Amino acid sequence: MRKLIIAGNWKLNAGAEAAATALAKGIADKHGQTDAVDIVFCPPFTSLRAVQSVIKGTKIGLGGQNLYPKADGAYTGEISPLFLLDCGCKYVIIGHSERRTYFKETNEFINEKVKCAFANNLIPILCIGETEQEREAGKTEAVVEDHLRGGLAGLTAEQVKGMVIAYEPVWAIGTGKTATPDDAQSVHAFCRKIISGLFDETTAQTMRIQYGGSVKADNAKELLGQPDIDGALVGGASLKADSFIGIIENSGAL
Ligand code: PGA
Repeated sequence: MRKLIIAGNWKLNAGAEAAATALAKGIADKHGQTDAVDIVFCPPFTSLRAVQSVIKGTKIGLGGQNLYPKADGAYTGEISPLFLLDCGCKYVIIGHSERRTYFKETNEFINEKVKCAFANNLIPILCIGETEQEREAGKTEAVVEDHLRGGLAGLTAEQVKGMVIAYEPVWAIGTGKTATPDDAQSVHAFCRKIISGLFDETTAQTMRIQYGGSVKADNAKELLGQPDIDGALVGGASLKADSFIGIIENSGAL
């Protein structure tokens, strides 16, 4: 049985230390010791330490929203995997569609980041997913396969087993539209088929695949109840303690 993983991607929000601390505390007070589901916070870099001190001693994990694939050097403005580790991160989101779109991140660059995360003992949460135009053109599977092949190139089955994929249809992110549970399930099952082909069936059945895109307390149950959906990557609804708690409590895992 795969354990659900529910991660809050705070993006460029809740950045002030007081806001980040209050948000983390509101959730940790209720679910800091919850073991039935892995809970992860991905705050902005500048709030990592503050959030880390709130969740110390709880079962909640910490993640970065990005990394630069170098440990150190002359890369002004970038974030090293070592800095994330130093702040207490266990996870790192890689290849989010906002980074693919606004920062022109390619599969090759994303693959470098995934490898760098592993080299530094961080668990990558690799985001994949199609745009609305791609979906309308019937290209969902081709895009998802391309993101998987590109992002996972050169990894070992052991590495892939321990990582997380987040399937996030771009048209569902921040829009209030979600894939239907059946549509999401069918893409997740397709991802497992591709991973089984690239690695093996055990790897495909072991690794966790989150769904992301307008997940809320009131759609969490149906989405997370699908056999191949192993949790959620949550943006907007992770910014209020109550709504994130609602997702955890409706996940079916407690
Ligand atoms: P959303 O964002 O929940 O606001 O749609 C999800 C994400 O971008 O990870």
